[in-house]
Amino acid sequence: MIQKGHLCISGQDCVALAEKYGTPLYVTSEDRICEQFENYRKALTARYPKVQVLFAAKANGNLAVIRALAQLGAGADVFSSGELRLALDAGMSPEKLLFNGSSKTPEDLALAVEKGVRVSADSLDELHQLDAAAKAAGKVAKIAFRVNPALEVPTHPKIATGLATSKFGIPHKEIPTAYREALTCKNIKPVGLHCHIGSQILDVEPFARAAEVMVRIARELTDMGVQLEFIDLGGGLGIPYHHDTDPAPTPEDYSAKVVPVFREGVEACGISPELWVEPGRSLVADSTVLLTRVNSTKNAHKRFANVDAGFNLLIRPAMYDAYHEVIVANRADAPLSTEYTVTGPICETGDILAPDRRLPPVAAGDLIAVLDAGAYGFAMSSQYNCRPRCPEVLIQGTRAALMRRGETISDITAAMELPPWQK
Ligand code: LLP
Repeated sequence: MIQKGHLCISGQDCVALAEKYGTPLYVTSEDRICEQFENYRKALTARYPKVQVLFAAKANGNLAVIRALAQLGAGADVFSSGELRLALDAGMSPEKLLFNGSSKTPEDLALAVEKGVRVSADSLDELHQLDAAAKAAGKVAKIAFRVNPALEVPTHPKIATGLATSKFGIPHKEIPTAYREALTCKNIKPVGLHCHIGSQILDVEPFARAAEVMVRIARELTDMGVQLEFIDLGGGLGIPYHHDTDPAPTPEDYSAKVVPVFREGVEACGISPELWVEPGRSLVADSTVLLTRVNSTKNAHKRFANVDAGFNLLIRPAMYDAYHEVIVANRADAPLSTEYTVTGPICETGDILAPDRRLPPVAAGDLIAVLDAGAYGFAMSSQYNCRPRCPEVLIQGTRAALMRRGETISDITAAMELPPWQK
């Protein structure tokens, strides 16, 4: 939305926010996240009564974002002890969490057992380690198995996770054997199935194929006498980063395609497990802009706009050639007359936020907004080049507040120590 030439996010003026909090700056709309969570919940529960929406906390690890979702009843897919603690601190109950991951430490497993969080076991080795951890704690650990469904999906190869060659999960044909093994473990109760086929998938069809694989396995397990409490279909629904040309599948589109396959499949087995999903990007990506100030411009072999945020703050363009829309926030309604490559301040040729974009003429001091930065944005930031990470602001209604202060150089150096022989 544009008001008086300024880009607004959920009704708040980006130019005013940048002036108040400085740049670079992440600004996130809590209202938008809550709206999208409700879209998911409504779309799924309209077709199946027992649904749990777990936020993939890796997409945005800010406590306030997770808290907003916790207050609406969300659970979380957590991928480390840190994410597990964040989710609990945000107020989520342990039964609504699933501890995922293909390389968990003994400490991770012990924490899951202690807190009563279900674990998605990625291998038989992990299963036996978890059995031992549960025995040591005098508890029984509830688990799912991460299924590798061997599905090709239309996305960037680095974020396809359910290919036969991916590092994640147990090949789908071996799941019944894994279950038999789990049933022999005294301190394990296998109760679920889990898969995640990949991320930024703009076609809902592959999710239906994954659901087919999962209910086929559910049938075999049911015949073995296993009582499945939940089946988790993972996350992965994409968002239209190219606003004008990408398909824009909604949670409703996802539900309409996937839930009938799931429901008919489990009904045919005579079971009614909970349906879990784990969206990350599609819950939070479009809630957030990254605001960055133009430091200088240059006409070389092409025009560059050099801004104060680079791949230290948003690595997606450098890492996946990802596209994010950029808008000159202080002249958001001006004609797009001139081509620029928007580059960050990092000492690397690949530090390009947005190549070859048509923008209004840009000068030092202008404010550029990078859109759809709420998923895997700040979450994947770094302190490369000794650059402190920027603040994050949360807005809600007409209110705005810091949800993370900006780091200082002292924050970076505080964790460093000189070895004794250098003192
Ligand atoms: N569940 C599991 C087990 C996952 O591994 C992931 C993402 C999700 C759920 C959430 O997927 P989503 O709904 O966000 O697509 N950094 C990359 C994306 C990596 C996704 C990793 N796993 C990017 O910036 O595109």
